[in-house]
Amino acid sequence: MMRFGLIGLGGIGEVRKQALEVSDVCELTAAFDLDANLLAQLPDDITVFKDAEQLLKSDACDAVIISTPTHFHKDLAITALENGKHVIVEKPMASSLAECEQMVETAERCGKILTVGFNHRYFAAIKEVKAAIQNEALGTLRYVKGYAGHTGLSEFKSAWMYDKDKMGGGTLMDNGIHTLDLICYLINDEINEVSGMISTKTWQLDRTEDNAFVQLRSQSGVMGSLHSSWTEWKGYHFYVEAYGDLGMARAYYAPMSSTIITMEKPGGQASKKRNFYIPAIFREKFKGWQSTVVQTFVEEFHDFVSLTNGGPAGAIATAQDGLRSIAIPNAVYDSDRDHQVVTLNRPG
Ligand SMILES: NC(=O)c1ccc[n+]([C@@H]2O[C@H](COP(=O)([O-])OP(=O)(O)OC[C@H]3O[C@@H](n4cnc5c(N)ncnc54)[C@H](O)[C@@H]3O)[C@@H](O)[C@H]2O)c1
Repeated sequence: MMRFGLIGLGGIGEVRKQALEVSDVCELTAAFDLDANLLAQLPDDITVFKDAEQLLKSDACDAVIISTPTHFHKDLAITALENGKHVIVEKPMASSLAECEQMVETAERCGKILTVGFNHRYFAAIKEVKAAIQNEALGTLRYVKGYAGHTGLSEFKSAWMYDKDKMGGGTLMDNGIHTLDLICYLINDEINEVSGMISTKTWQLDRTEDNAFVQLRSQSGVMGSLHSSWTEWKGYHFYVEAYGDLGMARAYYAPMSSTIITMEKPGGQASKKRNFYIPAIFREKFKGWQSTVVQTFVEEFHDFVSLTNGGPAGAIATAQDGLRSIAIPNAVYDSDRDHQVVTLNRPG
């Protein structure tokens, strides 16, 4: 069993804890949060620490999950890696591209694994879309488009969640980043052209976008687009749609559903398969959305442990994937300011 330390036991940290409780490849052995009340609720067999540095320097765990507010990710991850720990850091990876680059450099220098919590990759509907692309059911992939929305400020319980200096941006760095990662994961090619527009008109926050429209092009010419929103008055949902010459595949949440349409030639007789994931919908009705997230974290832990043992990475988002997910929003901010297409000067 891989022994995990958990730093940050708030909203998503609590769900991480639940996933560690049911995982068969790892366990929670150490914890720290600034809120002592959260630590006091933990079972006795988990070692609690007075500060994060003590935990990271201890031998009470082999790896850590960092689920604090985003502006603490970089320093905690670097200290963890330099103390011989593998790291899962929650999205967004850090508040700036420069911070992400420091994290990647440290992981490489220390020879430790650093991954980013893009758990939407493990949603059953996303797996169907990914499989349809991989088994060439859609023919040659041409474009992937996506949407992510929620109601914005009324969702948030803390001000750091919509503070540009702490989160690194607005909706793109919050909910949009998950769908952006999915689009890149499905395109599965270097992204080297980015353009976009942002707006701050509804919530009127300083430099913090409430809506963003993003366009991408990969090295081989596959296109991508995303609308990310904090003004989705219908509530939280996201979707991705992948289009090839011979069909399309769509994953939608919530409730979870998928659609796959295939044909033998462009415009030919279409066959359609829909999946409504009824057990997942019922489970969420009684146990909440967190029950789906727990399942995704459990699968992510499997891939993480595999990667640390030199095995396949599965669907896990690597540090380079995390870096890309920050490079693209920053390119969108530049594109909006300069009214230009931005060429990513790194492998995207
Ligand atoms: N994967 C996902 O889908 C997902 C969902 C929600 C949030 N997140 C990300 O997880 C991170 C945490 O978000 P959240 O919603 O759980 O926030 P939260 O405010 O609910 O919880 C943060 C916790 O961290 C603690 N904390 C604050 N500063 C700390 C520090 N320096 N050291 C240790 N503990 C500290 C707080 O006391 C709190 O308990 C953010 O980066 C967020 O973007 C990811």
